Amino acid sequence: MSTARTLVRGGLVITATDETHADILIEDGRIAALAAHGSTVSESWTAGRTIDATGKYVIPGGVDAHTHMELPFGGTFASDDFETGTRAAAWGGTTTIVDFAVQSMGHALRDGLDAWHAKADGKCAIDYAFHMILSDVHDSSLKEMDLLVEEGVTSFKLFMAYPGVFYSDDGRILRAMQRASLNGGLVMMHAENGIAIDVLVEQALARGETDPRYHGEVRKVLLEAEATHRAIQLARVAGGTPLYVVHVSAEEAVAEIAAARDKGLAVFGETCPQYLFLSTDNLAEPGFEGAKYVCSTPLRPREHQAALWRGLRTNDLQVVSTDHCPFCFSGQKELGRGDFSKIPNGLPGVEHRMDLLHQAVVDGHISRRRWIEIACAAPARMFGLYPKKGTLAPGADADIVIYDPDIRQTISAATHHMNVDYSAYEGRTVTGRVETVLSRGEVVIDRRTYTGRAGHGVYTPRSTCQYLN
Ligand code: URP
Ligand code: ZN
Ligand code: ZN
Ligand code: ZN
Repeated sequence: MSTARTLVRGGLVITATDETHADILIEDGRIAALAAHGSTVSESWTAGRTIDATGKYVIPGGVDAHTHMELPFGGTFASDDFETGTRAAAWGGTTTIVDFAVQSMGHALRDGLDAWHAKADGKCAIDYAFHMILSDVHDSSLKEMDLLVEEGVTSFKLFMAYPGVFYSDDGRILRAMQRASLNGGLVMMHAENGIAIDVLVEQALARGETDPRYHGEVRKVLLEAEATHRAIQLARVAGGTPLYVVHVSAEEAVAEIAAARDKGLAVFGETCPQYLFLSTDNLAEPGFEGAKYVCSTPLRPREHQAALWRGLRTNDLQVVSTDHCPFCFSGQKELGRGDFSKIPNGLPGVEHRMDLLHQAVVDGHISRRRWIEIACAAPARMFGLYPKKGTLAPGADADIVIYDPDIRQTISAATHHMNVDYSAYEGRTVTGRVETVLSRGEVVIDRRTYTGRAGHGVYTPRSTCQYLN
């Protein structure tokens, strides 16, 4: 009997396509077999370790395709590094992250990628991969894109927002899209008209409108919808480059994506828990509390949430990622007291995506299988990690979560594991909680105790987008 063999017995195995009472045999970090619970096949299995999942869900580890560990932003750095951030992810049932390596102005893509490897390698509790942020599109960075695709960095984020930082103009975006349409890369777009937004920021500040809530007012829904529309047209002009619009928050932007998909275009959309569960009401909290909710795209009036949920049900939106980009309230968000435009943009969330989306199952927004689709399978397929990640099938990595669907928990900064001094969901009670987590067959959370280690997680090169295959 090999200790490299583990059995998960008695749970309800849920994937994006099936729900079955099945047992799972794990061998050398991978799923060796699944068989009906109580069948002669599964009864014959022996293993060094057996995990009893009776009464629990057994689901694929979450794939969070949008995180920013240690991102430099607004003169500071996101407060989770790869060690603290991936440990928190594991606590929340996420076993793979795809983080964004950043190309700095005037530097090669390779320099940015090397820098992100240096930050992550040997630190991660779970497996990780990289997208590349293009901030400086020119002839040599276009050539480098081809090399990156070949070595497993197959998606490139461009920004229509943040002039002077990550911003690319339409010409640069078009050139990057043309290159991606040739080399198989997926273009990810931050779709907000940043040039127009900066004018509105300046005018708001001149009127003395400095509170966090004005962040939401100047970053207009129309400017998200306009940029989304423009990105879609540019991708068409570039030859049908697959386009993935990140952090979609506005109903009008969902409509642009839906219209493009109705035309049969390879256009995809991601939203995040903050847009599904929070709103401009949070941004308007008094006493600078609103700064805790400053991110871009911004939180929207509550009325937009129905369109996001509908998009997730109709598959006009395919993925829910966190855009985890935490800044402490104390010392970091506070940089923007008296000027909302100086509040570093981003929310913590990597730990709570699976739970918040399970709450959406409880609330009737989505089915259990849709939960697994948008949180595990679709991000894995979108970013070339499937079926190694995102499902439970023979040959897949044994990234497995034993999930208790009945237990109630209250989210709080006092108990979370992210390195940030507040929770955007403070005091919210949700039904369901991660109990045990396996990463490539190793137990990293054992019945609510962390048993993982920094450096267990490995860099995982990706194939090109598999979503249309
Ligand atoms: O506010 C956000 N989303 N910060 C992270 C950077 C980005 O635009 O994704
Ligand atoms: Zn490396
Ligand atoms: Zn963005
Ligand atoms: Zn982001």
